[in-house]
Amino acid sequence: MTKRVIVTGGSGLAGKWVVQNLVEHGYEVMNLDRAPMAARTARTLITDITDAGQVFNALASSTAPGEFADDLEPKPIDAIVHFAAIPRIMITPDNEVYRINVMGTYNILDAASKLGIRKVIVASSETTYGMVFAHRDRSPEYFPLDEEYPVNPMDSYATSKVVNEVTAKAFHTRTGSDIYCFRIGNVLEPDDYAKFPAWLKDPALRKRIAWSYIDGRDLANACRLAIEKDGLGFQVMNVAADDVSSDVPTAELLRRYYPGVPVRKQLGEFETLLSNEKLKRLLGWKQQHYWRDEAKNIVQ
Ligand SMILES: NC(=O)c1ccc[n+]([C@@H]2O[C@H](COP(=O)([O-])OP(=O)(O)OC[C@H]3O[C@@H](n4cnc5c(N)ncnc54)[C@H](O)[C@@H]3O)[C@@H](O)[C@H]2O)c1
Repeated sequence: MTKRVIVTGGSGLAGKWVVQNLVEHGYEVMNLDRAPMAARTARTLITDITDAGQVFNALASSTAPGEFADDLEPKPIDAIVHFAAIPRIMITPDNEVYRINVMGTYNILDAASKLGIRKVIVASSETTYGMVFAHRDRSPEYFPLDEEYPVNPMDSYATSKVVNEVTAKAFHTRTGSDIYCFRIGNVLEPDDYAKFPAWLKDPALRKRIAWSYIDGRDLANACRLAIEKDGLGFQVMNVAADDVSSDVPTAELLRRYYPGVPVRKQLGEFETLLSNEKLKRLLGWKQQHYWRDEAKNIVQ
């Protein structure tokens, strides 16, 4: 069984759920991040992923939990979950979003390939579909958004994620390693369910993300299943909940907010517009955290 995993960005919103999940399932986890973890679920090696020297060194380092562990000799890494990134536009200048995300991912994949690490899960994004950070309201070519969609975003963040998918495919072609890119929907943590009253009141607030959501704990499960599922080669998979984050039925959301966009399949009453069929089919993933259950004590 795969045992030693490096998570990048494990100090962030989504990555910390991945670290926690893996530790709870018996993995030896080391976090690479430029900031420490708030909860020290695993050891963090402070690393700047845009510096190739640091990345190569870090991936060849011991994942032991601390400097007084019984065995400090570096051991081979079985898998990497790569989440470190600038997670949206307007945090840093556009060129920095692009540089950090693209070079950070190149360095991780390059080092993994040269050090013989045969499994990498890469955080991509639903923004690749091009609506989320578009200059103005933009409609997709069709719904539901699936992995076959001809992605063509205009912003620096989503473009960096498209480039990362291309880079991932190139490294897979070079090495034959398993590299799975997750197009992740809007990640929610337990505290975020308190925002639902406002979101339900005004469905337009979540139009650009096509009402997607994914609980951080369900995302973490998807990462663990991906680590445990070998042999899929290069894959892109949406990671999203089964349902829309709205109490308005999906067909009505489409009628109100995306009139005229072709709908390619018969949708269930509240079915997601970010298709998760591939994730379920390839990894056997099942959603455990639905907003209706999580928010029931908050939403009247
Ligand atoms: N949060 C979402 O809704 C969402 C949706 C889709 C995709 N994603 C992707 O998921 C991943 C995690 O996102 P998040 O929301 O947890 O973001 P976050 O900002 O909370 O976490 C990102 C982490 O990366 C680290 N980091 C940034 N630059 C770094 C560098 N140069 N070297 C080392 N570490 C660096 C940060 O310190 C941070 O801890 C990102 O790749 C993001 O693009 C997030």
